[in-house]
Amino acid sequence: MKLFEIITLFPQAFPGTLDFSIFKKSRGKCWNLRVHDMREFGIGRHKQVDDEVFGGSAGMLIRPDVIDCAMQHIINRRAKNNINKITESNINSPTERQFTRKLRKVFLSPRGRLMDQSLVETWANEESDMLLLCGRYEGVDARAIEHFEFEEISIGNYILAGAEVAAMVMMESIVRKIPGVIGNAESFAKETFVDNEVSEPRYTRPAVWETHDGNSISVPQIIVSGDHKKIAEFQKSGRKKVEL
Ligand code: ADE
Repeated sequence: MKLFEIITLFPQAFPGTLDFSIFKKSRGKCWNLRVHDMREFGIGRHKQVDDEVFGGSAGMLIRPDVIDCAMQHIINRRAKNNINKITESNINSPTERQFTRKLRKVFLSPRGRLMDQSLVETWANEESDMLLLCGRYEGVDARAIEHFEFEEISIGNYILAGAEVAAMVMMESIVRKIPGVIGNAESFAKETFVDNEVSEPRYTRPAVWETHDGNSISVPQIIVSGDHKKIAEFQKSGRKKVEL
């Protein structure tokens, strides 16, 4: 089961959209998430997490020592869970693997490598858990990113106020590709992104839609013609290539 460890200043933002539908059903079976409140690792009485940028740039940065405390907490907890699960009887068993899962560390940032569908599928299919570091303000002290070897990943060429939404986008795209999450009923949706193509425009009942403002809009005739060859050609021509 893939576990997402999330470090954020807004833990209440999670599980967000992952608390519905197939995501809710599969949580705890195929995947799970553990949210860590960055504020708890803040410095001093005021639990300060950020500070001014050296060199005079505007804004505030998350301090590296705060990230360090959060990382120690997560690493220790994972190690403790592993030790608790390894007993005399299972120490050499094949399932031992699951107690020592790798952790892929991701810092969500608009400076990062652009996430795309092939990256999503690689992550969904690998055995490792994921740690998602959500920044706010102007970002995170660069030493922390380097020291803990975070991969810097962007969900698109635009700037969000914080990375919580980006983390949700990342998790949603990964979780839906984890084997077992999408069942038969939803498997059609799975087909909407194959061979770098997104699906053609699709239509359902009524075949003739009488709109409230007095229009009558039919589906393309070909789609209800019963001519399977023509329908297949029509569908193929409507598919759109997406650059990956
Ligand atoms: N944080 C702010 N903007 C972001 C983006 N585009 N991708 C990932 N994290 C972000």
